[in-house]
Amino acid sequence: MIVAAVLVAAGSGSRLRAGVPKAFVLVGARPLLVHAAERFVAHPGVRDVVVAAPAELVETAAELLPHARTVPGGVTRQQSVARALEALAEDVDTVLVHDVARAFVPAAVIDRVLAALASGADAVVPTLPVTDTLRTVTADGLGPTVDRAGLAGVQTPQGFRRSVLVAAHAGVAGDAATDDASMVEAAGVQVTAVAGA
Ligand code: C5P
Repeated sequence: MIVAAVLVAAGSGSRLRAGVPKAFVLVGARPLLVHAAERFVAHPGVRDVVVAAPAELVETAAELLPHARTVPGGVTRQQSVARALEALAEDVDTVLVHDVARAFVPAAVIDRVLAALASGADAVVPTLPVTDTLRTVTADGLGPTVDRAGLAGVQTPQGFRRSVLVAAHAGVAGDAATDDASMVEAAGVQVTAVAGA
């Protein structure tokens, strides 16, 4: 497999209210984006790293990440992934899509996603059982508690055969998907789960 990691970092971080996009918030004196990229640059199974950065910060991101290719992201996460896919080297056959907001992903999770792909999966997601108590919320306040048994949170990196991911992006209606696995699933591809962290 020739693997590229696509890091989506073009969100505004408006929920965080840090004054800069989330990917540029400093953690231990280094931007979140740098922490996230290091996990993939250092991983022996990943050859290339492509980053979708906020358009106004593409040059800053490129300076921070000399080992990555940096492209301007889009208005939505889905558009940012699509722009990064266009920048992949021709020989890449496998893509990991990762939210920079998850900057400290353990190498073991990347290992598990890559192992499932190497075993023949077309699409792989790390999942974690939900441990929070879940409630519905209405305009009037709290609704009933929801049974969390059988529910899992879906994380990143999500791994794909390149052809499968590119076809899903080309075929999807709209541009508001919140992850890539739901897009390939909508295109009829089976998604495999591995343990997240
Ligand atoms: O905003 P949300 O939590 O969905 O963002 C998830 C990830 O997608 C973040 O890493 C964010 O930087 C990225 N994103 C992006 N381009 C956008 C919106 C979000 O790369 N237009």
